[in-house]
Amino acid sequence: MAEAPDRYALFGHPVMHSWSPFIHGMFAQQFDHDIQYRLIDATADRFRKAVIDFFVEGGRGINVTVPHKQAAAELVNELTPRAERAGAVNTIYVPDSTTLIGDNTDGAGLAKDLTVNLGLMLHGRRILILGAGGAVRGVLAPLLRQRPSVLHIANRTPARAEDLAGEFADLGKVAASGFASAAAQPWDLIINATSASLTGDVPEFEGSALAPETVCYDMSYGHGDTPFLRWARAHGATMLHKGWGMLVEQAAEAYFLWRGVRPDTRPVLDALTAN
Ligand code: ATR
Repeated sequence: MAEAPDRYALFGHPVMHSWSPFIHGMFAQQFDHDIQYRLIDATADRFRKAVIDFFVEGGRGINVTVPHKQAAAELVNELTPRAERAGAVNTIYVPDSTTLIGDNTDGAGLAKDLTVNLGLMLHGRRILILGAGGAVRGVLAPLLRQRPSVLHIANRTPARAEDLAGEFADLGKVAASGFASAAAQPWDLIINATSASLTGDVPEFEGSALAPETVCYDMSYGHGDTPFLRWARAHGATMLHKGWGMLVEQAAEAYFLWRGVRPDTRPVLDALTAN
């Protein structure tokens, strides 16, 4: 009898529209690995039990998405240093059959997309990040490691941005404010990490934050311009990127944790962005 495939899954709520099965399926093809990658929609009250059942039944690894990344950090036996810093877990792996280790590959995924796929030099640059939720918390350390001249967190609720800036101040120069005072002069790179796109909104932000050469990166993705990129284009920005690369790179990093090999991300990214 043929051996059963190694089982992986994405836990979230909702997860129906996720591209992760496609991405991990393409990775597995590169190595001729026999894997199964499922989507598991679990509400907050069912999340913990569903994850434990998955591993008890022989599952090899999982990804975790909204809204469970913090709950995932609480259920694992150990956190990697970067997951501990982020306070959130997007990948769980089992180096032996009894220990669940929680890691966070989101920040590494964003940094790789910016610096390798897009070839941006972040050292000495002025970076503005919009938002102060879980998505921002996960990426601050890898961004600061690139040593920008300043990393400014702007949020609709300024107190949340200030709290985050205080928490990461030991890693580099981090400033914080509401949206209005962050728009006084153009930035080299603006990253939208708010969840405003999910509702079709654009963070209320002045166009004075943009110059034609400002790189605008939206962690969201989808068909056509996101609301943030539409806004940036309307204000004269020309270097616009969606978060497909971050999505694929964080997945590749998870695949490496699970299976010890690094997939080639380029063909997967090309397939996702072909249309
Ligand atoms: P995530 O894990 O995606 O970061 P989150 O922790 O709920 O989710 O954070 C959502 C972020 O998007 C917050 O920074 C939120 O701003 P507030 O802290 O002021 O709530 C931001 N956000 C959501 N909708 C927004 C909107 N319409 N305009 C501007 N910011 C918005």
